[in-house]
Amino acid sequence: MTAVAEAGILVNGEARAPEGAVVSVFDRGFQYGDGVFETLALVDGRVREQAAHLERLARGAELLGIPAPEVGAFEADIAELSRDLGRGDRAVIKLNYTRGAGGRGLAPPPDPVPTRVAMRLGWPGHPVEWAETGVRVITCRTRQVSGAALDGRIKSMNQLNHIVARMEWTDPGIAEGLLRDGEGRVVEGTVTNLFLVRDGELVTPDLAGAGLPGVTRGRVLEAAASLGIPVREDPVWPGDLARAEELFLTNSIIGVWPVRELDGQMVADGAPGPVTRRLQQALEGMYAA
Ligand SMILES: Cc1ncc(COP(=O)(O)O)c(C=O)c1O
Repeated sequence: MTAVAEAGILVNGEARAPEGAVVSVFDRGFQYGDGVFETLALVDGRVREQAAHLERLARGAELLGIPAPEVGAFEADIAELSRDLGRGDRAVIKLNYTRGAGGRGLAPPPDPVPTRVAMRLGWPGHPVEWAETGVRVITCRTRQVSGAALDGRIKSMNQLNHIVARMEWTDPGIAEGLLRDGEGRVVEGTVTNLFLVRDGELVTPDLAGAGLPGVTRGRVLEAAASLGIPVREDPVWPGDLARAEELFLTNSIIGVWPVRELDGQMVADGAPGPVTRRLQQALEGMYAA
């Protein structure tokens, strides 16, 4: 599989070289993070889960009162950015959609003209063996913004909470940090959803209070149901992770990463467990089909 280099930026549908790919300093995405984004995998020339990502982007815009995106325009952007890729290539597609330019002050302009950006970026350089051997993870001190403060379904461009959490580690051997809510429940990772296996049952945080309903999380829940694996969406506490037989993380780019070590402690015997493997394979099968 070839990781294709950064190769295309469209601003409101117009192709731009990286140095000319600019938006207004008055854009509220720049001023306040007032917008939404999506990150999609482009593998073997095919964009994975395009409809689900565009749906979440549109729902986020709606929850923020940003005029609805033209889904067809984003689809055209994605088609343009993936046109020259085929079997064996992979890249990341990133979409941004902001409330557009506005005057000073928080109040949105009465007639916003949203900004649409689509980019094709290089595949991240995570060690390939992480999907096989599992990853090391820490629990962050930084707590997750409550869903009562900002609806967790919005994949907001304002990422400060997660950036502060990500700044907690610099060791390149650590793959991810877990975030707890104000009460201490574990909600998700900085860029992933979390699953655990206990007594043969698959459990994932219920996201009632906070957390992003990941596209991959949804697919893993579907795959588990079709494999007859019992599933529960419930509050998850640090003690539940300590007692878990298996732990794994999901997102659109990594797929499924088994967790072999949490806060310096081995998860079970440190080897990816059977349920994790089955779901990893089910997901790969879904995307290969
Ligand atoms: C905070 C957070 N949780 C979960 C996810 C996983 O979402 P998805 O499976 O849609 O990529 C992401 C993706 O970047 C994320 O940023």
